[in-house]
Amino acid sequence: MLSVHNLSVGYKGLLAIQDVSFEVKRSEVVSLIGSNGAGKTTLLKTIMGLLKPMKGEIRLNDQVISGLPAYEVVRKKISLVPEGRRLFPRLSVRDNLLLGAYTVNSKEQIAESLETVQRLFPWVKERADQRAGTLSGGEQQQVAIARGLMSRPDLLMLDEPSLGVMPKLVTEIFRTVEHIAAEGVTVLLVEQNVFEALQVCHRAYVLQTGRIVMEGSGSELLQCDMVRKAYLGM
Ligand SMILES: Nc1ncnc2c1ncn2[C@@H]1O[C@H](COP(=O)(O)OP(=O)(O)OP(=O)(O)O)[C@@H](O)[C@H]1O
Ligand SMILES: [Mg+2]
Repeated sequence: MLSVHNLSVGYKGLLAIQDVSFEVKRSEVVSLIGSNGAGKTTLLKTIMGLLKPMKGEIRLNDQVISGLPAYEVVRKKISLVPEGRRLFPRLSVRDNLLLGAYTVNSKEQIAESLETVQRLFPWVKERADQRAGTLSGGEQQQVAIARGLMSRPDLLMLDEPSLGVMPKLVTEIFRTVEHIAAEGVTVLLVEQNVFEALQVCHRAYVLQTGRIVMEGSGSELLQCDMVRKAYLGM
C-alpha cells in the first residue's frame, strides 16, 4: 500500500533521514521504533506532505505522492495523529472531531464517522461539548486518534500515541490500535514504548540516526539481542 524508496530528508545542514526504504502492506500494523532524534517524526511528516524530501520517492498504491502538499495527501486517505496531539484546546471535543472531517463533503458520511469514533470511545458522546484543553492527557490522545479517523483514512499514522499517557491508559491506547486495525484500517505506528509496539504489530522497523538498521516481525524483534539491549533494557 505504502512504499518508501531511498528517502532522504534534511533540515538546514542536518540530514535527519538517510536512504530509508520500507513498506506497509494493506491491513498491516507496522511499528517504527527508535530513540529520541532518530527521525521518526520527520519520516511521518514527510509521508504526510508536511516536509519535502531531498531524495527518494513515496508511493501510495503505486501512485507517487512525494512532493504533494499535505491537503492533497489527506485526500489520498492518509491521516496523521501528530506527536503531542495538537488539539485545539479552546474548541469543544465535537469541533475538534469535525475539523478532522474537513475533507469529507457528505453529511451522512460525517455522521457515520462520528458514530464510529463514538463506538471506539463511548465517553466522547457525553463530553462532546467539553473544551478539549480541559481533558486529561489520555483523553486528549483518544480525541486526537478519533480526529485522525474522521477523514476516513485507509492508512492511519500515529506518532507516539502513548507519550505522556498514564500507564493504565497506555494499555487502552494499544488496544485501540488493535480495534482500528480490526476495522480494516492500515496502521503505521511510531512508538518509544517498544515492548507494546512490537506486541501489537505484524512487522516492525528499527530506525537509528536516520537509517533503518533492522526489520522483522514483532516477535522476531522482541527476541533480538540488539533490540532487547537497546530498547527494552534487558
Ligand atoms: N524543524 C527542525 N529543524 C531542524 N532540525 C530538526 C527539526 N525537526 C527535527 N530536527 C532534527 O532532526 C532529527 C530527527 O528529529 P525527529 O523529530 O524526526 O526525531 P524523533 O525520532 O521523532 O524523536 P522523538 O522520539 O524525540 O520524537 C533530530 O536531530 C532533530 O533535532
Ligand atoms: Mg518524534
